[in-house]
Amino acid sequence: MASEHVIEEKKQGQALVTKGKQQNTKKLFIESYGCQMNMNDSEIVASILANEGYNTTNLLEEADLVLVNTCSIREKAEQTIRKRLQKYNRVKKKQNKNMKIGVLGCMAERLKTKFLDEEKMLDLVVGPDAYRDLPNLVKEVNAGKEAINVLLSKEETYADVSPVRLNSNGVSAFVTITRGCDNMCTFCVVPFTRGRERSRDPQSIIKETLDLWNNGYKEITLLGQNADSYLWYGGGLKKDFEKASEIAQATAVNFAKLLEMVAIAVPKMRIRFATSNPHDMEIEVLHTIAKYDNICKYIHLPFQSGSDNMLKAMNRQHTRAEYIELIDNIRNIIPDCAISHDIISGFCGETEADHKDTLSLMEYVKYDYGFMFAYSERPGTLAGKKMEDDVPLETKKRRLQEIVDLQRKHSHFRTKEFVGKTMEILIEGNSKKSDKHWKGRNTQNTMAIFAKTGNEKVGDFVQVKINECTSATLLGEII
Ligand code: SAH
Ligand code: F3S
Repeated sequence: MASEHVIEEKKQGQALVTKGKQQNTKKLFIESYGCQMNMNDSEIVASILANEGYNTTNLLEEADLVLVNTCSIREKAEQTIRKRLQKYNRVKKKQNKNMKIGVLGCMAERLKTKFLDEEKMLDLVVGPDAYRDLPNLVKEVNAGKEAINVLLSKEETYADVSPVRLNSNGVSAFVTITRGCDNMCTFCVVPFTRGRERSRDPQSIIKETLDLWNNGYKEITLLGQNADSYLWYGGGLKKDFEKASEIAQATAVNFAKLLEMVAIAVPKMRIRFATSNPHDMEIEVLHTIAKYDNICKYIHLPFQSGSDNMLKAMNRQHTRAEYIELIDNIRNIIPDCAISHDIISGFCGETEADHKDTLSLMEYVKYDYGFMFAYSERPGTLAGKKMEDDVPLETKKRRLQEIVDLQRKHSHFRTKEFVGKTMEILIEGNSKKSDKHWKGRNTQNTMAIFAKTGNEKVGDFVQVKINECTSATLLGEII
């Protein structure tokens, strides 16, 4: 449902008990907020701490160590984390005086020692590139000190850390391929909290993917703030590529090549990726998606605004016309491709005409779904420092609602296109509403619900005929 995508600050699940580390005695409660990258980072953290004697638990009260992986993308996301910290504090006071509390991720990086000053019960602050230091930091904390490491790195990709899969359905998993972002969109805090862009060794990506396949996983999502900007030339920052040796440059692996390597390595596994920044998405990638059946026909392509004035103010490196050209190329090269978006309403200086440009671009593309936000000024960003947040909140909200309403209409238009068709669905688990029904997605990433027949199980690919739909869900039957 389109409107659900507005609320992004929600918690993305709770940790389940880690299997297979029976000898571990200490208990880690870890929660993640924000993007998929944070979910995967928490899995990396759980893996690092498993080697230090911590098993994950879903009971806050019994935890020796509570970690929250935080998001700074909008003010509301940060407020949500502050409330969670208060909750941990109450539990600590009333039920578990020895509990240690730490923050990870983007808020840790943004606030640094200020976080320790502001939240008195905090013991630990760790930025996204410093998780390898957790064993030392946790030792300090257990010795009664406060500990902090918010150093950003030029190389860190955690390539050799094998994530402990948390909240896993055993079917889908995330595999991080790049970290950081060099784009400097003026509204965005990510380049400051996650540092400069660097890519992960393709061999370690293939190895992790094969391990997942051998453990029964059927779908992976290759993750990066900017997945299409992936470039491996032996390690190091993307911006230093020009300085690399001729051989390193000539043998470099770009995103299209990586996608192909993964598709070939696991030919039966579904492969997804996110996020695609329009200016980094190359035609070669579209041809690779079209060529391999196991690469899903779905692209998440944020555009933020349909107005050239706004795109310029946002420092997005593309124009409306270039974006439309990319959409046309997608439609030509991958005719059955689903496309989703991110949109920001009410950025600095946005006029009614700019807003109409956003609506008209939506009308042109008719996105399958999208993630829609009112602009939230972030301290430290260029917009935060130099631009006036001059669109009144009421106007931002009204424009956002118009965007959400239009998206719902388009989502329904897209789901209706599936009615009457038969498609391959990967079963992910029981439907939320009934355990007599399965839920699973098609290659376009649209959710389908259908009755169980008794002959199939989670992780199976089944052929489903779609009979009905809502704006977000397909209803069908196995044939
Ligand atoms: N790397 C992605 C975006 C990551 S942030 C890209 O290529 O676009 C996810 C989304 O949050 C962004 O696409 C944007 O729509 C939204 N966002 C980022 N900063 C924001 C802010 N200050 N206010 C409101 N929404 C914001
Ligand atoms: Fe943010 Fe723009 Fe990078 S939205 S994550 S700075 S591509």
